[in-house]
Amino acid sequence: MIDKEIDIKELLRTMTVREKIAQLLQLTPFFFNKDAIGELTGPAEELEIDNSDIYNAGSVIGIFGAKEAIAIQKTYLEKNEKKIPLVFMADIIHGCRTIFPVPLAIGCSWDKDIAEKVARVSAKEASASGIHVTFSPMVDLVRDPRWGRVVESTGEDTFLNSEFARAFVRGYQGDDISKKDSMAACVKHFAAYGAVEGGRDYNTVDISERMLREYYLPAYKAAIEEGCKTIMTSFNVVNSIPSSANEWLMRDVLRKEWAFDGVTISDWGAITELINHGVAGDMKEAAEKAIKAGVDMEMMTVCYIQNLEQLLDEGKIDIEIINEAVLRILKLKVELGLFENPYKGADPKKEEELFLCEEHRKVAREVAAASMVLLKNENVLPFSKEVKKVAIIGPYAEEHSILGPWAWQGKAEEAISLKEGIINKLGESKVIVSKGCGIQDGIDEEMKIALRLAKEADIVILALGESAEMCGEGGSRAFIKLPARQEELAKKIFELKKPTVVVLFNGRPLEIKDLYDNATAILEVWFPGTEGGNAISDILFGDKNPSGRLSMSFPYTVGQIPVYYNSFNTGRPQVSKDTIERYCSHYIDIPNEPLLPFGFGLSYAEFSYSDFELDKDGITPDNSIYASVKIKNISGVPGEETVQLYIRDLVGSVVRPIKELKGFKKVYLEAGQEQKIVFEIKESMLRFYTIDLTFKSEEGKFIAMIGPNSRDLEALEFSLIEKGFKPSKSIEIEEMKPEE
Ligand code: NOJ
Repeated sequence: MIDKEIDIKELLRTMTVREKIAQLLQLTPFFFNKDAIGELTGPAEELEIDNSDIYNAGSVIGIFGAKEAIAIQKTYLEKNEKKIPLVFMADIIHGCRTIFPVPLAIGCSWDKDIAEKVARVSAKEASASGIHVTFSPMVDLVRDPRWGRVVESTGEDTFLNSEFARAFVRGYQGDDISKKDSMAACVKHFAAYGAVEGGRDYNTVDISERMLREYYLPAYKAAIEEGCKTIMTSFNVVNSIPSSANEWLMRDVLRKEWAFDGVTISDWGAITELINHGVAGDMKEAAEKAIKAGVDMEMMTVCYIQNLEQLLDEGKIDIEIINEAVLRILKLKVELGLFENPYKGADPKKEEELFLCEEHRKVAREVAAASMVLLKNENVLPFSKEVKKVAIIGPYAEEHSILGPWAWQGKAEEAISLKEGIINKLGESKVIVSKGCGIQDGIDEEMKIALRLAKEADIVILALGESAEMCGEGGSRAFIKLPARQEELAKKIFELKKPTVVVLFNGRPLEIKDLYDNATAILEVWFPGTEGGNAISDILFGDKNPSGRLSMSFPYTVGQIPVYYNSFNTGRPQVSKDTIERYCSHYIDIPNEPLLPFGFGLSYAEFSYSDFELDKDGITPDNSIYASVKIKNISGVPGEETVQLYIRDLVGSVVRPIKELKGFKKVYLEAGQEQKIVFEIKESMLRFYTIDLTFKSEEGKFIAMIGPNSRDLEALEFSLIEKGFKPSKSIEIEEMKPEE
């Protein structure tokens, strides 16, 4: 077996400077095949590059299908002198052809296994389709639902996002990325893209190093610790320097501190955008800054290919900096097994076999149901299957476009609509359907018909929401209510006083106060993917008990944003919602709390919490505390509860949040069943970036909180002490299984 390192170094030695620089270039399939159907996912400008560079380019973005991948690789290799295969990358964000719910929905499953399963199935389909690297997971922490890209993230919490980051990487990469059904992951967008001011996409980010390290960076780091092979820069600035030119971020933090040795890639056009940002006067300067900052590959712009050679000649950069980048790209190709088999998993037959196969559809249905969140239920759900007439009203009643943004090869017509899902369950005769209006507008006649049909029904399912185009990249909104026409429809339907369940399709937490006050029940289904209609119907008719929990707070109103659970106490906290005290931190017109908090979600079962205890009242660096609580299903139906552990550090050298998620466990309980849940609290869980930015814990008092969401918690105090402690209570240690 030849040492892979030596192999690529030898190869590098034989490459011309031009060949090396071309390895750093990523192009769309269009450059190789004018008829290619690959997607454009950013502004497409005419790139002036000649054929010799095209046939030395390192990578292709957005390949669409095995046939195209094989054809492009074949022609490429015929023309590429060194026979270095192309690496194909694409945005497989929540499925390839079988589409799963959007990542924000997956975040609401609070289930790492589910995320891993989604990534595994995606990897199988995408690999058969010729893709080697996916631009996922997106782990940007998000606190502003105006930003359209919250749909791509798993939510507002550092710990939860980190857990999901790891799970996605495991699922995509498997245990060996050279396997035919595995692909490399690309964590993005490094860093802090989720903190764009005002929720406006591509906008400025202004964040202290402490906040960056404490909240925003850990999820990227978690992905890297899990072995993620590549990372993408973000469009935004960090400390007034765009990520793609940010040496501190890309070299000091990523390479030196985190020892990341994989490939870095700019986001679409981000190197050229250094000019718009105003840190580079032209493309040449942009190239110099980006390569010096450590960006290996340039996505869809030509700053490198047009300027690096000249920068070398002028002595502005050293060949070593290019060698390093090329070596990393070659290493990725070796690890993917592309030198041995440039066509890797690409296989049109396999593609056909796997796409939308029964097994994958089954996973899609399971994941969709697990990610839906029941927001309200006034004893109306689950519906009985004996119901006589169901009216499905609203723009999403029979809509197939329920895949959400970044649905790659997914086709809307292959998705199960809500109407189809319900007919699959009840048969056609019981179901009446009318849109009432479109997503944005509608005509009066349509609304009249919908109201007339709704009157005839026993129950109304009101299917409302925003379209995929209203969120995702470039989909920021200043107002996050439903479009006015839909609100009007809802109002009129509520006036009928029928049991009305709102089913919400959307990619961000919306402002839903009016709906919340008037609907009998609300089921948040996000963009549920290929099996959406079936999964919704499973929940509405009780074949599945809802178990999703919000991974992002639903604001009371847009003026409250950002509103998130792990805020600071402030110097003048509001002591009680009911006391009117002017000079405390509050609004005079709305509550401080969100409408629905992080971690919230209802079930058809009901759970009681009791006997919350800590086995000791002190913790040392060598001895953990075990927190236990009994959960009982006090209802007549089985269900799943997500038990959440939060901790507060009462006094620190810097201000600490009022609570931070430190653990969660999903527990399935039969009707009447009780189980003791135990969390291990370790000293390492209490560490944070202290006054001088060292990451450590500080002695003192803490509060452990346990409950079903970030609002309804029971609390107990404990201390962190350097030496020794006395056990205060004894609980049977053998039952205390620490969380893996
Ligand atoms: C731009 C987006 O910001 C990024 O998330 C995506 O992966 C790339 N385009 C490639 O499509």
